[in-house]
Amino acid sequence: MTDHVIVTDDGPVRTLRLNRPDKKNALTDAMYEALTAALDDAAVRNSIRCVVLAGGPAAFTAGADLQDFLHAARHMEGLRPQAMRFLHRVADTGKPVVAAVRGVAVGIGTTLLLHCDYVVAATDARFSTPFVNLGLVPEAGSSLLMPRLMGTRRAFALLVMGQPLDAAEAKAAGLVNAVVPADDVEAEAQKAAHRIAALPAEAVAASRRLIRGSGAEVVKRIDEEAEIFRQRLKSDEAKAAFEAFFARKG
Ligand code: COA
Repeated sequence: MTDHVIVTDDGPVRTLRLNRPDKKNALTDAMYEALTAALDDAAVRNSIRCVVLAGGPAAFTAGADLQDFLHAARHMEGLRPQAMRFLHRVADTGKPVVAAVRGVAVGIGTTLLLHCDYVVAATDARFSTPFVNLGLVPEAGSSLLMPRLMGTRRAFALLVMGQPLDAAEAKAAGLVNAVVPADDVEAEAQKAAHRIAALPAEAVAASRRLIRGSGAEVVKRIDEEAEIFRQRLKSDEAKAAFEAFFARKG
């Protein structure tokens, strides 16, 4: 198991904290696996009624680890099974998820919020999805859910043009529920999670299913995106972009 994800339970609320600050919480296979395992476990544990997903002060997460992408590009591989299992799990977490976002939320750091039920962001939070700049395509069902949430114009600017959203823009676009000072984000997210946890659990679960609609449609889109993502990972465009990222300090 990795210490890059810290799992703690406080009564009915489980917190999953991304803890790889030196790499801005970029997600490795081991981290995907730890997150999936903690969500799987929360789903079947009656005592857990809500999950909080949190990062650090500077970064919620810088997205997928680009070293893994570079490796995939060089070895003609696709998205790793660990990432795919995580994507399938976030699309159907079983229990409500509250996200606490401080700092940068890049790539999957932004798209996974589409699967969260309540999102608290710091005033300094910044949301970006530079998929196309990296020669890739949107993932995590975002090509379906993002336009639904904010309309095709704003989804295009974010997902294709790579235009970031600040916290106020993310709230106006419906991606975020509450924007609070960075120091208050964690407490605010925990408060929301405990409030959700105190509601009648079966009614919450049934309401969530109604609000979220067909999980099958989302999973189908995640798989369609992953197939195109796999092809794009092998492209010269993508390989050049990953190499440029790691060469930028040289
Ligand atoms: N994968 C792997 N390593 C990453 C990473 C990622 N997604 N994001 C950041 N890192 C690493 C950097 O390589 C650097 O490592 P080093 O100290 O060994 O050189 C460290 O994390 C700190 O990042 P740095 O770029 O120096 O911090 P910053 O504050 O200047 O910028 C970001 C932060 C997030 C804006 C910038 O790191 C970035 O753009 N990362 C890539 C994000 C991305 O494209 N993700 C994939 C989306 S699909």
